[in-house]
Amino acid sequence: MTRALESKGAVSMIGGLLLALVALPATAQIPDEFTNLKVLPKDIGKRELVSIMREYSKALGQRCKFCHVGESPDSLEGYDFASDEPEHKRVTREMMKMVAEINGKLLPAAGKDDARVRCVTCHRGVDEPETLDHLLLEIVESKGVDEAAARYRSLRDEYYGTGSYDFSANTLNEVAETLAQERGDVDGAIAITRLNVEFNPDAARSHLMLGQLYAQKGDKAAAIASLERVLQLDPGNRWAERLLKQVRETE
Ligand code: HEC
Ligand code: HEC
Repeated sequence: MTRALESKGAVSMIGGLLLALVALPATAQIPDEFTNLKVLPKDIGKRELVSIMREYSKALGQRCKFCHVGESPDSLEGYDFASDEPEHKRVTREMMKMVAEINGKLLPAAGKDDARVRCVTCHRGVDEPETLDHLLLEIVESKGVDEAAARYRSLRDEYYGTGSYDFSANTLNEVAETLAQERGDVDGAIAITRLNVEFNPDAARSHLMLGQLYAQKGDKAAAIASLERVLQLDPGNRWAERLLKQVRETE
């Protein structure tokens, strides 16, 4: 049993190493001379340039192909790195200037001479940096709550534990609160909070919110069930006790 597990571990470790080897661009396929640098110093050494390019790739959770013309994602053979055709390369030059401006001028003006913003400070492993609550609210607005819930599930599958998004119960609580209070969308808020307690079944605050929302909708049985759950998780919770009393008294 232990043996089988050990050898399985060894196999997947070797698999991981192989993957890492394939994923690392063979620097031999990268030219030694650069012909189209407009932001970086023209005489930059190859090692430094490649290290910057890897930093960009990692910060955005992308490969070289995201910004450069080339066929294969796994080998850099035949890549035309000097080409300015990719839109992402153009955007990146502006991002580089923005970062230089922040680090060179704006942070020192704020008295933060040693502080540095890097690509990953905003991007955190994704090409379109956005907090999860804002992202979901946007999707609720443009495509509806079912789409937002589906996106939450797929983002969670892909990014849980990476630090790109905050999957704690707070995020969906925020979304539900905004929907209920600012947009008057109680049904949307209920759908989001149900999703929240599905993934965070022990979050008393989310069950409390669900209880409040059901009470607001007049669904007495569901409100009572949620509020009782709050009291199991957080015995003596004042809000839950008070609301439970109110709900039970209504006819
Ligand atoms: C997020 C976008 C982005 C990613 C990802 C990226 N690059 Fe770049 N790359 C650029 C930009 C922008 C320039 C041009 C910089 C300038 O104008 O100073 C550049 C320039 C280069 C150049 C110099 C081309 C020339 O001759 O002028 C090479 C070589 C290069 N990148 C290799 C790579 C490799 C290898 C990877 C993957 C490890 C990679 N890049 C990933 C944006 C990117
Ligand atoms: C101050 C925050 C911030 C920093 C620092 C930053 N970016 Fe961005 N970046 C953004 C935002 C915001 C967007 C727009 C995302 C969107 O379209 O929703 C963006 C978009 C991009 C895009 C276009 C992505 C796409 O899918 O269209 C690229 C490429 C990019 N950034 C590269 C970089 C690189 C490389 C660096 C470091 C040199 C960097 N960014 C630093 C905030 C930042």
